[in-house]
Amino acid sequence: MSTDQQWDIVTGVGLTALAVAAGRAAESARPDALMTDPYASRLVAAARPAAPFPFSSGDGETEPLDDELWASTAEYVGLRSRVFDDYFRSTGEDGITQAVILASGLDTRPYRLDWPSGTVCFELDQPAVLQFKAATLKEEGARPGCDHRPVPVDLRDDWGAVLQTAGLDVSRPTAWLAEGLLPYLPPAAENRLFREISRLSAPGSRFAVERMDDIARLAADPLLRDRSGELGIDVASLFPEGEREPVEAQLERLGWELENRSVPETAAALGRPQPGLQTLTEHITHTFGRLP
Ligand SMILES: C[S@@+](CC[C@H](N)C(=O)[O-])C[C@H]1O[C@@H](n2cnc3c(N)ncnc32)[C@H](O)[C@@H]1O
Repeated sequence: MSTDQQWDIVTGVGLTALAVAAGRAAESARPDALMTDPYASRLVAAARPAAPFPFSSGDGETEPLDDELWASTAEYVGLRSRVFDDYFRSTGEDGITQAVILASGLDTRPYRLDWPSGTVCFELDQPAVLQFKAATLKEEGARPGCDHRPVPVDLRDDWGAVLQTAGLDVSRPTAWLAEGLLPYLPPAAENRLFREISRLSAPGSRFAVERMDDIARLAADPLLRDRSGELGIDVASLFPEGEREPVEAQLERLGWELENRSVPETAAALGRPQPGLQTLTEHITHTFGRLP
């Protein structure tokens, strides 16, 4: 299997989903947790990564995050997960009962959030990632709290048609999420992603997206660059090169009204210090769009 084309949960980009799940497991174990994912540690243990990840031994204990890369990852992931959990709470309160989670990885929102009755929740990711998650959660006896529809796709391909075949109702507003996805898409696929989301969105739809305006900075960060190899992640190779048009400009042109929140602002609002890896997290923005 070429990990450029397809990957599972312990190869290529899939390993980043495992790292994020380990971050959610760490946040969930905190006495002051901002969010709780009861399945995160189980998913990490079941994946059996070649390199030891926190929680991968599967003994159910909270393993110490005495490592700078892991501690920083967990701090940021806890914050980010809470931000986008709150986003779906707010779209539900506003009566939106159709959600699409792009590159859902090992996140378990269909199972762990309280969805308004009648909510349909689509999760898009690579086939092997979705299969692993479904099989592990089934073993755990987990049940989704919504009409959950996994949609195996490559987001560089024509995923919109597959999503419509899976039942997306384009006459109803949708709440979209792209969390931890954009750096892995080539610029042309990112551009197509935004156009496709806009084409499939009824008025009143919402979109939340995590963006980093300088992806080269992420690839060059010394901590990530020097340490991620130990985990089997070749960070630089995961980020396709090429000129990217700013996300805000792309979305505004497609008619979205935008609001931005920086990570330091969010950390302050939630009573947390600015997460580690500051050179990166200072440059990450959570953008929230609304289609009039
Ligand atoms: C950093 S993880 C984030 C996962 C999830 N959003 C979370 O926060 O836990 C990146 C995810 O993007 C997915 N991904 C990246 N490129 C993709 C593509 N071209 N098609 C489908 N999924 C993709 C990976 O499989 C992985 O699950």
